Amino acid sequence: ESSPLTDTFGRHHTYLRISLTERCNLRCQYCMPEEGVSLTDKSNLLTTDEILQIAGVFVKQGVTKIRLTGGEPTVRKDLVDIVGNLKKISGLEIVAMTTNGLTLTRQLVALQKAGLDILNISLDTLNAQKYEKITRRNGWKRALAGIDLALQLGYDPVKINCVLMKGLNDEELLDFVELTRDKNLDVRFIEYMPFSGNKWNKDKMVSYKEMVNKIKEAHRDFYPLKSIPNDTSKAWKVPGYKGQVGFITSMTEHFCGSCNRLRVTADGNLKVCLFGNTEISLRDAIRSNCSEEDLISLVGAAVQRKKKQHAGMLNLSQLENRPMILIDVLSSPD
Ligand code: GTP
Ligand code: 5AD
Ligand code: SF4
Repeated sequence: ESSPLTDTFGRHHTYLRISLTERCNLRCQYCMPEEGVSLTDKSNLLTTDEILQIAGVFVKQGVTKIRLTGGEPTVRKDLVDIVGNLKKISGLEIVAMTTNGLTLTRQLVALQKAGLDILNISLDTLNAQKYEKITRRNGWKRALAGIDLALQLGYDPVKINCVLMKGLNDEELLDFVELTRDKNLDVRFIEYMPFSGNKWNKDKMVSYKEMVNKIKEAHRDFYPLKSIPNDTSKAWKVPGYKGQVGFITSMTEHFCGSCNRLRVTADGNLKVCLFGNTEISLRDAIRSNCSEEDLISLVGAAVQRKKKQHAGMLNLSQLENRPMILIDVLSSPD
């Protein structure tokens, strides 16, 4: 069928990622440069009403899952309110969030009550000192407490995102796998991706193949599970372990062919691809009082221009792209 959210390669976009803020309470090396990033003026960020309006339009066009991201989404003051109001949109089945977990002990109970369905938490090390090195901030204990609380509250599974970098935390691969032994945790290793200012280089990246081979050395029966359509992650398991181990192979085996995602940045731009730098301003459209119909044709035209796949690992590292924090990763400013 034809919908404004179906592109020229037949991909239906049913999953929208909305960035709620550009701010973050951490400064992870792979996400932003040491000096931080310059933040968009508040007047140019989407208001809560605008976020809900945009969400409503996308859901009417077929989106069934919305993931809240950042920056760090939990630094946005009205987060609970946003979740509650999203849950009222009929047709929207899932509201998910990706967070660094630092504030969960303070607000997860309220978020769950508001209807938050799914929680992904980023954690790149099981060592307190290393956490400071990677994130350039404190918070390791709070992050762990956040993960524990999510498990206690029944999020199942809690997905942990871990970016391994050579010489930094790659020695912890098997320790992370061990987390899946007794808990309802899925650990997903993400290949390190290049963004402006993150000093990416191929030699710092730990590839899917390398990770699988290392895990197989310790767990001979480590085996792949059946793939789930549209999943960013390839799932594997150690026999007998409760949780899964996943790999997000954006660099060495891209999954663009089954991409079902669109994203809206905190300043209201639609990005049809994480790695593309063509963006259109939904904020400007809404603020010029365009009709819903016009908004939909604007979105439709952008989706029609979506490319078949991203430019490839080495080309991407040359490309100008917003630092990840300004796209959708995780994030209080000091
Ligand atoms: P699920 O809905 O649980 O599958 O989550 P997710 O993996 O889509 O979201 P999450 O915020 O946990 O992101 C984890 C990683 O997935 C990110 O760091 C990206 O590497 C990758 N990812 C998410 N969306 C895209 C995308 O559109 N393209 C590519 N290449 N990678 C993506
Ligand atoms: N490479 C890989 N993953 C990254 N993330 C942020 N920046 C990068 C990068 N350069 C991850 C975060 C978070 C997820 C949404 O994206 O760790 O878990
Ligand atoms: Fe780290 Fe996320 Fe914050 Fe970036 S936005 S510094 S990945 S916690």
